[in-house]
Amino acid sequence: MKELWFDPARVLIGGDWAATEAVLPVEDPSTGAGVAEIARGGAAEIDAAVEAARKALAGAWGALDATERGRLLARLGRLVEERAEALARIEAQDVGKPLKQARAGALALARYLEFYGGAADKLMGETIPYRVGYTVYTLREPHGVTAHIIPWNYPMQIIGRSVGAALAMGNACVIKPAEEASLTALAFARLAQEAGFPAGAVNIVPGLGEEAGAALAGHPGVQHISFTGSVPVGSLIQAAAATNVVPVTLELGGKSPQLVFEDADLDAALPFLVNAGLQNAGQTCSAASRILVARARYDEVVARMAERYRAAQVGPALGDHDLGPLISGKQKSVVQGFLDRAEGLEVAAEGQVVGDAPAGGHFLAPRLLAGAGPDHVLAREEIFGPVQVVIPFDDEDEAVAIANGTDFGLVASVWSASGARQMRLAKRLRAGQVFLNTYGAGGGVELPFGGVGKSGHGREKGFEALYGFSVLKTVAAHHG
Ligand code: NAI
Ligand code: MG
Repeated sequence: MKELWFDPARVLIGGDWAATEAVLPVEDPSTGAGVAEIARGGAAEIDAAVEAARKALAGAWGALDATERGRLLARLGRLVEERAEALARIEAQDVGKPLKQARAGALALARYLEFYGGAADKLMGETIPYRVGYTVYTLREPHGVTAHIIPWNYPMQIIGRSVGAALAMGNACVIKPAEEASLTALAFARLAQEAGFPAGAVNIVPGLGEEAGAALAGHPGVQHISFTGSVPVGSLIQAAAATNVVPVTLELGGKSPQLVFEDADLDAALPFLVNAGLQNAGQTCSAASRILVARARYDEVVARMAERYRAAQVGPALGDHDLGPLISGKQKSVVQGFLDRAEGLEVAAEGQVVGDAPAGGHFLAPRLLAGAGPDHVLAREEIFGPVQVVIPFDDEDEAVAIANGTDFGLVASVWSASGARQMRLAKRLRAGQVFLNTYGAGGGVELPFGGVGKSGHGREKGFEALYGFSVLKTVAAHHG
């Protein structure tokens, strides 16, 4: 891959880039061809990375004050911005993201670093009124070594929100990127070195989930774990965290609904209804995979969404079509497996794969499914592909019951002209984020984000993340 300006088959531990005994192939999902190799780190590399992080906390990194940490993050953000085009092209080839979505990912990473750089010296403790003769105050301190297990769907954004906030609070990070998406994570670590982060503040060990990932999650030298990915692995991570009694932030996806009421402005809603399902070929934790529509507008919504589906073009990432391929042959068969269970649903529309799409690419035409009852398996389970189901409802109570009726609760939105209804539903909907007459699939660096139920717990993004990546200490002085 000509955009790679470094050797990706290495791990970064304590400021040194080292080769590993084994490597993993990097596949371009648009072609199926091998385009690079990455290191296959395991328990030994994880041990060394955790030790290097601990040393950084005891050394140069731990000695920096909050303003200096903020400046380093801001500098790193500028380096990412300067390299955005190369990062976007690397990401497009590594994970199959259409170029403009990959570019948005690089710029979002830069923006996270800018945001957390600015925030680093603005999180303050409190003084607490207590008994006469005492002064009591709180300090916000880093956890120590933080583990960041990153998925493949938004590698740059998720590193930005998780590692950016952790570094702002003074933690030393060990990153385990997804085996399908390590290249921009490695580039990030290169740029962190270039920005001047002391050795050991940022360590990265690519490898398999069950090897490097499990070793990191279970490592007794780790003081906080943040994980984004599947529910079963999230559950394993939480079990590992329980063994070591460390806090964990889990973001595990969802089945997020958009609710369209009879008084909705459909012209405004339509792009959000469809894009929030098709963005990143539907491989988005906050994808709006369920569209709930008031029966009076149901046929109209299905017809107008179908028009957009029919126009959607799927093709190679560097061709910058509306959708790229799915991340892997495995993910394509997972999605196909769901489509094979669509009995009882009506195919309202399909998009199209461009004629010159390489035969080895993992392309799948997006599919809009209508007529779903809320209990259909495709209306309940996360598909993680370019598939949306449209579900009718008769009144507000039923809409809320359907919206809240899955195991998940990540994002929801309400399209209605009624301010009273917006306010009511903002409270009634079970989700970590509610959008009113808009929808932000993963958008909004400033907006705290996370789930309830099987969508996970803990909050990343926004200022709120800084609380999660720090520990509160109460200091009580008796001075008489
Ligand atoms: P995954 O949960 O296996 O992978 C996420 C990360 O966890 C990767 O870095 C992986 O290497 C690591 N990992 C895997 N097994 C591990 C273990 N035993 N211990 C520690 N770390 C481990 O997700 P996968 O297999 O890539 O995708 C499967 C499904 O998960 C998708 O179809 C989708 O439904 C969901 N998913 C949700 C995401 C989200 O944004 N919430 C992101 C990626 C996947
Ligand atoms: Mg996996």
